[in-house]
Amino acid sequence: MKRKVVVTGAAGFIGSHLCERLLDDGYIVTGIDSFTDYYDPERKRGNIRASLSRDGFDLVEEDINKCDLAGVFKGAETVFHLAAQAGVRRSWGSEFSFYIDSNILATQKILEALREVGGVRLVYSSSSSVYGETRDLPMNEEHRLKPVSPYGATKLSGEDLCALYDFNFDLSYAALRYFTVYGPRQRPDMAFSRFITASLEGGEIEVYGDGRQTRDFTFVSDAVEANILAARYTGDEKIFNIGGGSRVSVLDVLEIIRKETGKEVKTSFLERAKGDVLDTWADTTRASSELGFAPAVKLEEGLAKEVAWYKDLIRNRNGRQGFGK
Ligand code: UGA
Repeated sequence: MKRKVVVTGAAGFIGSHLCERLLDDGYIVTGIDSFTDYYDPERKRGNIRASLSRDGFDLVEEDINKCDLAGVFKGAETVFHLAAQAGVRRSWGSEFSFYIDSNILATQKILEALREVGGVRLVYSSSSSVYGETRDLPMNEEHRLKPVSPYGATKLSGEDLCALYDFNFDLSYAALRYFTVYGPRQRPDMAFSRFITASLEGGEIEVYGDGRQTRDFTFVSDAVEANILAARYTGDEKIFNIGGGSRVSVLDVLEIIRKETGKEVKTSFLERAKGDVLDTWADTTRASSELGFAPAVKLEEGLAKEVAWYKDLIRNRNGRQGFGK
């Protein structure tokens, strides 16, 4: 009999890639997604199209906070919880209530449903933003946790909730702290997406700060692989850094994009964004020794794939606009 898994945030950037990988691996996949309008829901429809056309995939188009989750989780061996209100820089002010609903309340609802159903493993998507600002690099999992964005605080609350359900009800779970994931289907608010579209469509690149901030960028297939490994893992560790091993500055990224697209783009330097940390760098020793995680895609290769994907997206969109004129 085929094995069943559930992916929340199935039409999102990482979730949609994970669904395809799980289908390739022979699983029956139930995706949950509410197609929020944080960015164009049509982009998400595009992300999930390939999975929808395949046998063994089923989509529950509902808000986690309103959904009968226990019914969906019954018979599953793993729930991959990727649904979230993402975005570090937008999590201030009145937007924060969306972060609470999507990242804290929805996670608690998932944990309650897992408790009710029993015997289902959880892989929770966390974030490097739980660490906050530090000069103590690279960050390992024992590092002090002091988020500097409201978003990071909600992702950390999600981790805390997983831990306390484990303490009280023996939940089987792993939390993956992703470090700035990129690649085809990357969310349009993220740096690479904004830089690449500005390059390809003749816009202007806005750099927050002086561009010397660094990130440990992680290609999406490596983040997906980490989910697969974490689902299978039976050891005692719970929290894992998932980094791509490509720590570079924003200025370095711009140089690679310039070479890849062959275009010079007007660049302006704005104030540093509140909530952004200066540097991230993942110590992935634990993920490597416990899960067997080893990032496989180097930055230049991964960026070239993201640029190619954006070229297709723009070509298709322009083709549609031209059609019938
Ligand atoms: C990303 C994701 O958006 C979060 O959801 C995730 O949790 C987080 O990674 C993580 O690793 O924990 P971020 O690192 O801010 O957050 O990712 P990008 O949007 O790709 O930004 C990377 C850097 O580029 C930041 O320093 C940002 O200030 C800068 N940036 C971004 C610009 O200079 N200009 C832009 O237009 C966009």
